Amino acid sequence: MKDTDAAQTAPKPANPTRTRAWQELAALAAQGRDNPIAGYFRVDRERAQRYSLRCGELFLDYSKNRVDDEVLGKLLALAAEMRLPAAVRAMFDGDNVNVTERRPALHMALRGASDPLGRGSADWAGAVAGELEKMRDLSEQVRSGAFRGATGMAITDVINIGIGGSDMGPKMVCRALREYGHPGIRCHFIANVDGAEIHSLLAGLDPQSTLVIVASKSFTTQETRLNTETTLAWFENTLGLPRSEVLRHFIGITENVPLAREFGLVDPQIFKMWDWVGGRYSLWSSIGLVIAISIGFDGFDQLLAGAAAMDRHFYTAPLAENMPVMLALLGIWYRNFLGAETQAVVPYCQRLGDFIGHLQQLDMESCGKSVSVDGEAVDYATGTVIWGQTGTNGQHSFFQLIHQGTHLIPVDFIGVIADPLSDPAHHRPLLSHMLAQAAALMEGRSGEDLPAAQYQPGNRPSNVLLLDRLTPYNLGSLIALYEHKVFCQGVIWHINPFDQWGVELGKAIARRLLSGGAEELAGLDPSTRRLLALIEGHEQS
Ligand code: F6P
Repeated sequence: MKDTDAAQTAPKPANPTRTRAWQELAALAAQGRDNPIAGYFRVDRERAQRYSLRCGELFLDYSKNRVDDEVLGKLLALAAEMRLPAAVRAMFDGDNVNVTERRPALHMALRGASDPLGRGSADWAGAVAGELEKMRDLSEQVRSGAFRGATGMAITDVINIGIGGSDMGPKMVCRALREYGHPGIRCHFIANVDGAEIHSLLAGLDPQSTLVIVASKSFTTQETRLNTETTLAWFENTLGLPRSEVLRHFIGITENVPLAREFGLVDPQIFKMWDWVGGRYSLWSSIGLVIAISIGFDGFDQLLAGAAAMDRHFYTAPLAENMPVMLALLGIWYRNFLGAETQAVVPYCQRLGDFIGHLQQLDMESCGKSVSVDGEAVDYATGTVIWGQTGTNGQHSFFQLIHQGTHLIPVDFIGVIADPLSDPAHHRPLLSHMLAQAAALMEGRSGEDLPAAQYQPGNRPSNVLLLDRLTPYNLGSLIALYEHKVFCQGVIWHINPFDQWGVELGKAIARRLLSGGAEELAGLDPSTRRLLALIEGHEQS
């Protein structure tokens, strides 16, 4: 990634709004330089070609955005002034970019073991390769039937117990790539502490042929611990075997190896991860074991290779030709200069439905911050509300608001060109709808005779991302694309995208509520105490 500005030697500004580029962008936004998109196409016949990027089998058309060359130029200047290229190098070199937790963020090392980029990945390549080998071994044993449970049966069902990044990434990948899944092994995901989920699942399974993966970086997460204990008790009760024997059906994936041992697992059953793997970036680590079991280790390796290809693109492409950078800058333009608070993500591929939830954690847990890396309260907007639904389903629910509502909501459409699980009679309409929505949002509808209620203002922006095919490789690239987009936004907003302190307070209060102790409850507000009393039946409403 090359710097585009001579100012690169200067220290990074502590506030993006004080940069020259920010001031100029604000002036452009105030002049109404943000529209109309359809008009840009009339004066620039090359716009569709010029405003597009390709990386392998991913193609990004960003031409239907409220930007022209001048706006894009200033956005790129903002990235340069905020020292984005240096920040990218620092992340790949393994610097402590997660400043509050004083650690690197090196998820790229997990997928770059064979061809590392930057010092950080090179340092960890050996350790990562070792853990991958262990994943290969176990996944192949489970898939081939060589792995046997306590009563000698092969595995037909795998339960991944984990939450947040220890659930959403692997679940999303397994569901997106179900075409590649082992026909004789079902993978289940339990995240919520809601007992209805775990009890309903267990009721339909045979413990003799069930393998449980306890996926928890910390090995302390309350939901995961409780679901694990419930599952362990189910094994003991239904098989009538002692804990020491049923534990054979359990695998632990964690950074906290001592706690996994305390739980009763022995080292061959414990898969390691490292503190430099953030939960929302952990599907590439041993947390991806369920993926390797589902699609096979070679498929998992392809997923890693696709992500590594995006890493290379991100690391080497100039800012103006860099796909994650471009997505990030467009997001900044809408969030900070045109007042958009949310961003819709709409995959026109039902199998990518869980991609939205994964992106929500990735983006909102990363950029939901109001303090800068220097510990100062920010005086500008950060973070974007990410939401969505698959197309065409979303068209029949929330699209009305995007077309005619008063909000500005940029949309990322995601389509897959060739889908072997579908057929042309379905696939052509599916993708036609996607293109039609993007066109309609941009064009709008007006006319003298048109009733006011039918008027559509248009000029509503979108990106269209096309994948040639939904392969493990391309899915890896797609996920890494958004990871790097989020990182770029964090750099420009001068926040730490790798911590998540905001979720801790709720966990601590839940612990107090659960303890039920008079002292713990005394300090809570009257509303919370009354609600607890109602739930526990101590009080009538
Ligand atoms: O509560 C948020 C969080 O810490 C996420 O960042 C993480 O992915 C999830 O909890 C699960 O954590 P663990 O893998 O340690 O159980």
